[in-house]
Amino acid sequence: MQIFNLFPLTVIKDNISIEEKEREILVNEIKKMKNIDSDKKMSSYAWTGDINGHEFLFSNDLFKNLSTKISKVIIEYLKNLEINTSYLDIYYQRSWATYTEKEQSINFHTHSQSNISFAYYLLKPKNSGGIIFKSNELQNEIAKNIFTSSKLEKSLINKPNVYNSDRSMFDLEQDSIIVFPSKTPHATLPNKSNLPRISISGDISLMLRQSKGFEHLMPNFTNWTKF
Ligand SMILES: [Fe+2]
Repeated sequence: MQIFNLFPLTVIKDNISIEEKEREILVNEIKKMKNIDSDKKMSSYAWTGDINGHEFLFSNDLFKNLSTKISKVIIEYLKNLEINTSYLDIYYQRSWATYTEKEQSINFHTHSQSNISFAYYLLKPKNSGGIIFKSNELQNEIAKNIFTSSKLEKSLINKPNVYNSDRSMFDLEQDSIIVFPSKTPHATLPNKSNLPRISISGDISLMLRQSKGFEHLMPNFTNWTKF
């Protein structure tokens, strides 16, 4: 018997190496942003720069080297999808740091205003929590809710696997980067380490260089009319 898994969600993982000195400089810069905003109250949610006024991290020159390395990974991601990048202008529309302390996490969300998103782990101590992706469309759900956790507990389902799960967890090591469609719901697991986890996230917008003849991708903003 052959099994065909059709219509996959493609998530790529790569590694980026940076000098330890650079890591220290970036971590300190992020700590400065976080401490300015911190109200000292311990929250169960991680601190994220995007909603605390630090959503353009890559306009800070200290992050230039890292953003150049990330750009190369994004191009590879697009190539894997067989997208001809020579037709596109590609922008980081937002980029920010996340700072997750013990027991903190981030709830499920999407980045609905962009095309591609990524997370790069600048500091990722052991047991500091992974990232979970969730599918909106469980392709093999032959009966409504047949694969929910209660069905597992009642042994109707023997074990979760890629055929019957609507979520998948990655626990990646420091210096890894994960790239995925922005519309994919994702969350982070609680940090079980005593050390903070710091990731750098970003949202990427694609625009056609020339939109003539194309209907669906965003036309170049240089041709837009502001009113
Ligand atoms: Fe996110």
